[in-house]
Amino acid sequence: MNIPSTIAIDGPAASGKSTLAIALAEFLGYLYFDTGVMYRAVTLEAIKSGKTTPGEELCVALAERLVIDVQPPSKEDGRFCDVLVNGADVTLEIRTPQVDANVSVVSAYAGVRKALTKQQRRIGLKGKVVMVGRDIGTVVLPEAELKIYLDATVEERARRRFVERQAEGDSLNSKKVLQAMSKRDQIDSTRQIAPLQPAQDALIVNSDDMTAEQVFTFVKNQIEKNAAHPAN
Ligand code: CDP
Repeated sequence: MNIPSTIAIDGPAASGKSTLAIALAEFLGYLYFDTGVMYRAVTLEAIKSGKTTPGEELCVALAERLVIDVQPPSKEDGRFCDVLVNGADVTLEIRTPQVDANVSVVSAYAGVRKALTKQQRRIGLKGKVVMVGRDIGTVVLPEAELKIYLDATVEERARRRFVERQAEGDSLNSKKVLQAMSKRDQIDSTRQIAPLQPAQDALIVNSDDMTAEQVFTFVKNQIEKNAAHPAN
């Protein structure tokens, strides 16, 4: 069987990338690696240093200096991994609305991308990995053997994010979630370096009318079909 060893999953916020990647990684026995946590960790540390709008120089220095680790979960609070920054657990802190609001600005800085892409590529090239982000198939691992671009309308994605955060106990306004998501989409897809876009050879999946399980089954079937008939 010719099963892809490196799988890249890209797409906009809340399109279901992480859910799909976790299921695929479990099914194949691969490492699940969400590159978004690295951009979030740099953003969190910049905010903690007291800057309301984190500047480029500070963020680049943090991206080059911080030791960001992803490890198996140490707690049963719904997390799929622990995110550590210089040894401290920031798994929950990197998901706050304040980090959401600043992460796209921080991840558009060239020096931040250069430092984090280097680390991501080193991990990805080891193989047996499902890597998630915005630029995995286009920049981080253009040689990935399977590239998936998972999409959905901004309204559907904002609805999912609202439900997800509500379940975590956050009191949010659905209109504000939609506005924040549209803004993040706009910055991510129009930035000069590594903008969010499907790789030319990506399998594009629109998940608007699909459950998470249907998306997983569709991708799993594609993998099995290609493995059985590699020439197709
Ligand atoms: O979970 P969600 O889809 O909301 O976001 P995420 O995957 O945690 O990524 C947060 C932000 O990091 C994105 O909006 C991008 O601005 C940035 N990012 C990026 O630029 N490149 C990546 N490979 C991953 C994330």
